[in-house]
Amino acid sequence: MASNLKLLVKGAEQVVLVCKSGEKFLTKEGMQNLAIIENGSVVIGHDGQIKAVGSADSIESQFRDTVFDKVIDATGMCVLPGLIDAHTHPVWAGDRVHEFAMKLAGATYMEVHEAGGGIHFTVKHTRAAPPETLLEGLKGRLERMLRAGTTLVECKSGYGLDLNTELKMLSVIDAAQRSMPIGISSTYCGAHAVPRGKTMEEATEDILSVQLPAIQKQMTEGSLQVDNVDVFCEKGVFDLNSTCRILQAGKDMGLNINFHGDELHPMNSAQLGAKLAALAISHLEEVTDEGIAAMAAAKTSAILLPTTAYILRLPCPRARDMLDAGVIVSLGSDFNPNAYCCSMPMVMHLACVTLKMSMPEALAAATINAAYALNRSHSHGSLEPSKQGDLLIIHAPRWEHLIYQFGSHQELIRFVIIKGTIV
Ligand code: NIG
Ligand code: FE
Repeated sequence: MASNLKLLVKGAEQVVLVCKSGEKFLTKEGMQNLAIIENGSVVIGHDGQIKAVGSADSIESQFRDTVFDKVIDATGMCVLPGLIDAHTHPVWAGDRVHEFAMKLAGATYMEVHEAGGGIHFTVKHTRAAPPETLLEGLKGRLERMLRAGTTLVECKSGYGLDLNTELKMLSVIDAAQRSMPIGISSTYCGAHAVPRGKTMEEATEDILSVQLPAIQKQMTEGSLQVDNVDVFCEKGVFDLNSTCRILQAGKDMGLNINFHGDELHPMNSAQLGAKLAALAISHLEEVTDEGIAAMAAAKTSAILLPTTAYILRLPCPRARDMLDAGVIVSLGSDFNPNAYCCSMPMVMHLACVTLKMSMPEALAAATINAAYALNRSHSHGSLEPSKQGDLLIIHAPRWEHLIYQFGSHQELIRFVIIKGTIV
């Protein structure tokens, strides 16, 4: 009897699996040798999971008697896993286009921040915004990310810095997840800045004794989903001791540690993250050799954010040194009012040109390794049977066009598919 499945994508010029043996992450050698099938097909079932990936001929004979709800003839096209953006701040009101002009004229990120701009500007507007307005803004940004090929995205709170606004932001992220197909990993980032009028010590106490317990209560009641805990560990923001206390408290609640470290000054954030078994640390423009070695040993992923160094004219994170040392390098857009970039193809392009990564390394960093950084690599990040059927189909004869053609991928990305459904 003929069986019935959801989707067949057949006869693609290349199917990039990324990995094929159940790896949870890739380091340098694996990133340079991605699993690719020439002239391949992909099958997805009604449960949204990948059923088979293989050569077009083998899939054709294996599924000869199967009826598919939908068949896509991918002749002249390539199939890749959906992209994963491991670091974004997408919930906010009030843009900062005026600050872009200030920075172009020479102001540094911290000068703008200390003058009451930067994160403080966004906090003021986000506190004042009703949740409906924040949700509308978030959905528009997630839709743009989806169009650029992102199928799973990490979303941070952190423009509230008080209990009510942090909860408002986390609830808005939850509401977006319920109403949109894009996958979300949600992060509590109440320690994104020290709120005006408070000392770092007071802010730390508020987070530890008010904010985290309230979040834990809502998580236990099932009214809020939060996956990760984040702190901006930086000179003039949260020091190493406060960072350690907040991250440990989040970990004790069952959250994954995934935080901002060693961005503008060497803070020993990498060593702290390794000690706490952090899943990931972002930025790392100023990480030391010892920090790199500690992250490699602890299997703490480095989420590199090429847009930040680019827009702030910072030294680039040392991607090559990290790869050589065996660090699990992943990528994020860092979408926020400072770095207004919704596009992971653009991020991969910058990673290649400015961080000197190769195209296969950049793709692994934006798929399987970003999935690892979000604790999702059992279900996301590669095209392997039983993983979620999230994929992109691009109209090009080789997959590298996704990185090579920069700034115009709307024409290139023909289909974005989540759980086997075209979105
Ligand atoms: O990752 N460095 C701290 N946080 C963000 C910027 C947030 C903002 O400027 O609004 C980042 O780049
Ligand atoms: Fe950030």
